Amino acid sequence: MKIVAILGQKGGSGKTTVATALAVRAVQDDQSVAIFDLDPQGSATHWSERRGADTPAVVSCQAFMLEKMLEKAKEGGADLAIIDTPGKIEGAASASAKLADIVLIPVRATALDLDALSELKSLLLIHGKPSLVSYVVINAAPVQGRRHEDARAVIEQMHNLTVAPVHLSQRNAFADAAIAGQTASEYEPKGKAAAEIDALYSLILSTTRNLKTEVTHG
Ligand SMILES: Nc1ncnc2c1ncn2[C@@H]1O[C@H](COP(=O)(O)OP(=O)(O)OP(=O)(O)O)[C@@H](O)[C@H]1O
Ligand SMILES: [Mg+2]
Repeated sequence: MKIVAILGQKGGSGKTTVATALAVRAVQDDQSVAIFDLDPQGSATHWSERRGADTPAVVSCQAFMLEKMLEKAKEGGADLAIIDTPGKIEGAASASAKLADIVLIPVRATALDLDALSELKSLLLIHGKPSLVSYVVINAAPVQGRRHEDARAVIEQMHNLTVAPVHLSQRNAFADAAIAGQTASEYEPKGKAAAEIDALYSLILSTTRNLKTEVTHG
C-alpha cells in the first residue's frame, strides 16, 4: 500500500480537492483506496456523505491513531491511502509527513501562500522526505497568463522545493463537482479539470514506480 499525504499550512489551498480527486481517479483505475480525514472540519467526510457511495472509503481519524489505522487498511488490502490534513503545521501534519511515501503540497500562486512554505520545508526535512517524493502542486492558477510559471520559479529558487510538473487551474468543475460529492473526473470526465487530475495521478504512479526501483536497487 502506498501512502500519499496532502499537506499545507494555508486554509483553502486545495488539499481536500486534491485528496478526493486523486482518490476517485485511483478508484477509476480499479485501486482500493481509503482517504484518512485528519481535519477536524471533516471536509472529506462531509464530501463522502454527500457522495453516498462506499468508494473511496473515507475514514475520520485523529493523528495519534493514524499509524494503526493505516496498518489496518494495509491488512485489509488497500492499494492507496490518501491523508487529508488541516491547514496547520501541527500533530496531524507531522504524523502524516512521517508516515507518507509521497507528500503533495497544494498551494495557490499568491505571495502569502508561498510565504507559508518555509515551515513545511522544515517539516519535510525533519521527516526525511526528499524532493523526489514531495511535490508542491500549484492549484487554482488563472487559466490566462503565466502566474503558475512565476510561482514555480519562486518556490524552486526561494524554498528549494520541487514543484510538480503539472498544475491545476482555477476551474468551476473542481468546485461544482464537490457539491454532489463528486470530483471533476466524474462531473466532467472529458473536461480540462479531469485531464489535469489525470496528469497528477500519472505523477503519483511514476513516483511510486521510482520508489519501488529504489527499494529493489537499494
Ligand atoms: N482548482 C480549483 N478550481 C476551482 N475551485 C477550487 C480549486 N481548488 C479548490 N477549489 C475550491 O476552493 C475551496 C477550498 O478548496 P479545498 O477545500 O480543497 O481547500 P483545503 O486546502 O482543503 O481547505 P481547508 O484548509 O479548509 O481544509 C473549495 O470551495 C474548492 O471547491
Ligand atoms: Mg480541507
